Amino acid sequence: HAGHDMGAMALDAAALPEGAALRELPTLANEAGQPGLFKAKLTAAPATARFAADRDTPILAYNGTSPGPLIEAYEGDRVEITFANRIEGEQSTIHWHGMPVPADQDGNPMDPVAAGADRVYGFELPEGSAGSYWYHPHPHGKTAEQVYRGLAGAFVVKAKADPVPAAYGDTVLMFTDLRLAADGSMPDNTMNDLMNGRVGDHVLVNGQKNPRLTVAMGAKRRLRLYNATNARFLRLAFDGAAMTIIGTDGGLLGKPVAADEIMLSPAERVELVVAFDRAGTATLATLDYDRGWMGPGRPADAGLTLLTVDVSKTPGEAMPPLPERLRPIAPLGAPAVSRRLVFTETMAMNATGMEMGFLINGKAFDMERVDIVARAGETELWEIVNQADMDHPFHLHGTQFQVIERERGGKVAKPPYLAWKDTVNVARGETVRLLLRQERPGQRMYHCHILEHEQLGMMGILDVE
Ligand code: C2O
Ligand code: CU
Repeated sequence: HAGHDMGAMALDAAALPEGAALRELPTLANEAGQPGLFKAKLTAAPATARFAADRDTPILAYNGTSPGPLIEAYEGDRVEITFANRIEGEQSTIHWHGMPVPADQDGNPMDPVAAGADRVYGFELPEGSAGSYWYHPHPHGKTAEQVYRGLAGAFVVKAKADPVPAAYGDTVLMFTDLRLAADGSMPDNTMNDLMNGRVGDHVLVNGQKNPRLTVAMGAKRRLRLYNATNARFLRLAFDGAAMTIIGTDGGLLGKPVAADEIMLSPAERVELVVAFDRAGTATLATLDYDRGWMGPGRPADAGLTLLTVDVSKTPGEAMPPLPERLRPIAPLGAPAVSRRLVFTETMAMNATGMEMGFLINGKAFDMERVDIVARAGETELWEIVNQADMDHPFHLHGTQFQVIERERGGKVAKPPYLAWKDTVNVARGETVRLLLRQERPGQRMYHCHILEHEQLGMMGILDVE
């Protein structure tokens, strides 16, 4: 995929068809044939997709599809997935974003799978781990590109006893962000993309632009929203339907929370129950959000319709109510250790052009350097301080955390509810305080999930002993 000239004309937005029936993601078949085991194969390889009506786009795909197949397993299951890297000339890995897997099974950049090689990832899904996770590559220096070219999929861990009524269904909506050149190809990242993160021209849902869903009046639907874009912030609202937040990255909340809008920074997920009580058309669309932008050309991000729902006049079958309590979330106790991570950007012109640095505590990522040493089982307070001019979504591997405080412009706010998260936006000028506990030994990554920033060094290594 080299050789696209940077001046290539972008494909006319109108050339991307809209309004097809929403495609449910294909599920990854379990080949185990025995209870308690999920066994399958995922092959990453070049493929082609038809986004525009009349031209092919070379992409990277898992098992031929992008987004990759939906993995559905249950709490308590053992998972064994053979990964085949068939990307020519490039290392890859599978990182199980947000999942409590052992460090040596987490597909981090220190543990690459060579082009042409296979490896098995094996791990247990502990009780209580039900949630909306995802998987994507994480090779050193190539993560951003492999993801925007198509490698990302959803991994839903289901609860054995689920408090959410089955009548609501369970639908994954995975948002990705596509840029196409006039010939249908995906252009390489520019300098601007590296600075700001790659923001495409079309936000897709399960690979489709503004697909349509049909529901009966009175229907309630469980929707799992994934921001799988490299760098686009999605501030979202439904027009014509009512949203209730029931879960975040790491599973259900204690209680449902009604919401007029939601904010998903790159890599975040939310579980919603959406009530369609008015006949007609309901739409899920973006609202404006200024996340800080270097240089000219901040993309318009308001008013993009991502999903259109036709709500029939005839009411459907009566829906059971959502329970008032979903599951207990115990607050993590007093921390034994406090850490401070300061995010900064440096931009300087020199003789060879613009020199950029995306740093944590003054340092760019080094695969050979351990930045933090922690003890398994010990609760820690992490203070993430954003002193940069852009928002940076902070992500930590290996465990879920609880945000306890946000501070900006001298104002301190407590979050409105307790939740399990693995990614949290830290707005420019903001400090976010969170509690976490790593239970398993080994090396873990923490980084900005604007993947171009991760590539440019906004990442560190935590060693858990
Ligand atoms: Cu979703 Cu370190 O990644
Ligand atoms: Cu960033």
